[in-house]
Amino acid sequence: MILGAGAVATIIALSVVYSQEMAKNQDGGTPTKPPATAAPSNEPWDKYRLPKSLLPQQYNVTLWPRLLPDPTGLYIFTGETTVEFKCVEDTDLILIHSNKLNYSDSAHLTSVDSGVEAPSIKSRFLQIETQYLVLQLDGKLVKDHMYQLHTKFTGELADDLGGFYRSEYYEDGVKKVVATTQMQPTDARKAFPCFDEPAMKAVFHITLIHDIGTVALSNGEQKETSSVVIEGQHVQKTAFGPTEKMSTYLLAFIVSDFAQINNTIDDVLIRIFARKPAIDAGQGQYALNKTGPILKFFEGYYSSKYPLPKSDQIALPDFNAGAMENWGLITYRETALLYDESFSSNSNKERIATIIAHELAHMWFGNLVTLRWWNDLWLNEGFASYVEYLGAANAEPDWNITDLIVLNDVHRVFAVDALTSSHPLSSKEEDIQRPAQISELFDAISYSKGASVLRMLSDFLTEGVFTQGLTSYLNTFAFGNAVYTDLWEHLQMAVNNTGTDLPNSVNNIMNTWVLQMGFPVVTIDTQTGGISQKHFLLDPDSTVTVESPFNYEWIVPIKWMKTGVIHPTIQWLKNKSDTVHEMKTSGPSEWVLANLNVLGYYRVNYDQGNWDRLLIALRDNHSSIPVINRAQLVDDAFNLARAKIIPTVLALETTKYLTEERDYVPWKSAVNNLDFFYLMFDRSEVYGPMQNYLMKQITPLFTYYKNTTGNWSTIPAGHMDQYNQVNAISMACRTGLEECSTLTKTWFKQWMDTNTNRIHPNLRSTVYCNAIAAGGAKEWEFAWSQFQKATIASEAEKLRSALSCSKQPWLLNRYLEYTLNSTLIRKQDATSTIVSIASNVAGQSLAWDFVRARWTYIFNEYGGGSFSFSNLINGVTKRFSTEYELQQLKQFKADNSEVGFGSGTLALDQSIERTISNIKWITENKQNVMNWFKAELKLYEASS
Ligand code: BES
Ligand code: ZN
Repeated sequence: MILGAGAVATIIALSVVYSQEMAKNQDGGTPTKPPATAAPSNEPWDKYRLPKSLLPQQYNVTLWPRLLPDPTGLYIFTGETTVEFKCVEDTDLILIHSNKLNYSDSAHLTSVDSGVEAPSIKSRFLQIETQYLVLQLDGKLVKDHMYQLHTKFTGELADDLGGFYRSEYYEDGVKKVVATTQMQPTDARKAFPCFDEPAMKAVFHITLIHDIGTVALSNGEQKETSSVVIEGQHVQKTAFGPTEKMSTYLLAFIVSDFAQINNTIDDVLIRIFARKPAIDAGQGQYALNKTGPILKFFEGYYSSKYPLPKSDQIALPDFNAGAMENWGLITYRETALLYDESFSSNSNKERIATIIAHELAHMWFGNLVTLRWWNDLWLNEGFASYVEYLGAANAEPDWNITDLIVLNDVHRVFAVDALTSSHPLSSKEEDIQRPAQISELFDAISYSKGASVLRMLSDFLTEGVFTQGLTSYLNTFAFGNAVYTDLWEHLQMAVNNTGTDLPNSVNNIMNTWVLQMGFPVVTIDTQTGGISQKHFLLDPDSTVTVESPFNYEWIVPIKWMKTGVIHPTIQWLKNKSDTVHEMKTSGPSEWVLANLNVLGYYRVNYDQGNWDRLLIALRDNHSSIPVINRAQLVDDAFNLARAKIIPTVLALETTKYLTEERDYVPWKSAVNNLDFFYLMFDRSEVYGPMQNYLMKQITPLFTYYKNTTGNWSTIPAGHMDQYNQVNAISMACRTGLEECSTLTKTWFKQWMDTNTNRIHPNLRSTVYCNAIAAGGAKEWEFAWSQFQKATIASEAEKLRSALSCSKQPWLLNRYLEYTLNSTLIRKQDATSTIVSIASNVAGQSLAWDFVRARWTYIFNEYGGGSFSFSNLINGVTKRFSTEYELQQLKQFKADNSEVGFGSGTLALDQSIERTISNIKWITENKQNVMNWFKAELKLYEASS
């Protein structure tokens, strides 16, 4: 079996190389230059950034994707384009981005202005490494004159999820092909030759040629469709109205035979497109219902009208990211847009609402005003990742989801930003050049830290001031480009206008968060009122080698309360330390709690006395502490313990009150932290006592839901309650609660026996996973066949993830092999499937072996991708905690240095750092932790 798969991998790898070679060599007219050897040359075409001599004004682009393979089995597209550009500096060279395109005819250069003649093209070649079509001219283009460049080209419509690519699916047993695009960040150049940088904005006139009966979509409105005969084929030609002035990475072209539903809100046409059966089943309805209100919400939030006449959203069977904010034509993977009440969970529904909000937020922030270069990506993605909560909360006001940013973003990114291998939000423009460097920026720092610090900023400015500055920023730079300090300037103007009181300028405050990596831990001594800050490092023995312009000090806004009473003003910590007399406590019942609702991007530590009083408050009257801060106390304590700032047993103490806790956010925070304990201890002797303790802790919650849902026959009403019900079941089963595993096995068996699935969608993921873990090949095969039959992607996703829960090595190994075959596991899902298998203690080492053995192949397939690749590296190594594993990891880094790690380079260094800290943590904590669990159990047994 292993041999067989190896051979398949080799064949696939060869065919990749083959098609790349084809792409290079088919071009009859344009030779390619070998990549620069030895000394890097200083020719303009060896630089990744475009020269500043030419500025595109408008493009005419005609593309014809073929949805049937050519006689050699290749899917291709052909195209023709004219780009009009202005010369702003005399030059005899045209560099235009072009990747994997072949030019058959020669390019033509003409002058637009009468009286000026265009020089002729002396020579042309493709520079593969930097992805240019290079045209050398026999004379100069003259400053302030306009020229047009006309080219004809062909490209492969590959299934590689980037540029102009194809997506495939089956409908009634018939294979269907969709031609679609994903341009961000640097793949527009794979669809047509263009000045592919975000500041090179232009107007695009798009025309698509497509088969009769298919629908063509692009950013603009369909203007006219005509039937024509080209190369003997009867086809349709759809021309779109000119776009607004926009960046290339936001373009989209799609040909499909999808169906749609639509409505109109205040003259904006809103449409949802998807596979016909999905639309017929009503799966687009939820997205359609929510889009209008979210669009309206953002118009209000930005005080700026939606600038386009239509807003299309389309669900694609193959899509690399979750969704992409192409202006006027947003693309999604199916799970992120399609909803079906009888299959989708509340979590699926929430994801749809937030992802729509995220992409619609970009229509202004990112699309209307675009950051000049990718180094400021964090502001674009961080901003959308913050306001997605506001947009979704507005569309679903009963859900209370704005709180979730603390779990999903703040806590998530704290984990990476506490490593010395982290990096600042802001990068220097000159440090971001190659496409892989750009892709690497789409990480947790840009998204989640960006979101967290913007939320903090909006909070200390107040939302009114924040949006006032935002509106003036958007108005000033509309249809143009900006840098992040432009936003600070406009916020500062709003601060000045409103007389808002700040300890320093917006720029100076924010620079401390944006220009240095990491975040502080603020320590409050309630005996003296002394407060101080220190760079928080997960591993206190690691050394920070990167200097910071602010010496790792931040300007920290502190909102706080004393014994339940909120202090009326923000306390700013501007230096290393300070004294705040009000923070002194007196008596055994007074406590201080800082960073209310975790609005600030920092952790908090206290003197032991205050910790003790907080623990008592948790135990006796936990609702005196705001719900988010209960989650914070757990998360801070666990992480302060990992950093050896407080004893680990103090962190464990914060979990004792959980027998009384019924709220989701604190529970989830605890589960996330206990996950680390599972990762570290599920292969060791600590496991038994830990399981027993946690079973005791979760049982009351499990019983609570059993009782309030009529013995699991209904679902709780509240959104957060629904999440917590799932939490209760999955933790109960995980800790081995017999009643829980019986429940999940019975439900699953009923499904297998009757072929009717009565499991509520909310509970499916955890029920499937537990039943498959407890079962054998029969359960696995059943789930696999249901996976292949699933008619909605969110159901398929639940099964795909549950299939990785098996405890049988042979099933897991076979499943790993499936990820190499895109007819079994779609390419978009390959890396996340490997990661799920690695999360399973039984699959961890299998997945690691698998990834190492096939690194070259995996790298070639997914190395250019954005999130998936760093997720893969982090995922397969997250359990690493032994010297042996560390050696393997270092060996892996050394062995593959030649192939490289692409957008996962940083993730690899983070994994090494994490492993080192895990090893130390286990040595120092194992005995203590075991003793604590045992002692707690003894106490419990004695009392019951
Ligand atoms: N612009 C991104 C999509 C993207 C990511 C393109 C990486 C190219 C490389 C989009 O706005 C986005 O952020 N999508 C997120 C969803 C969001 C809710 C965090 C995604 O795809 O997961
Ligand atoms: Zn985004």
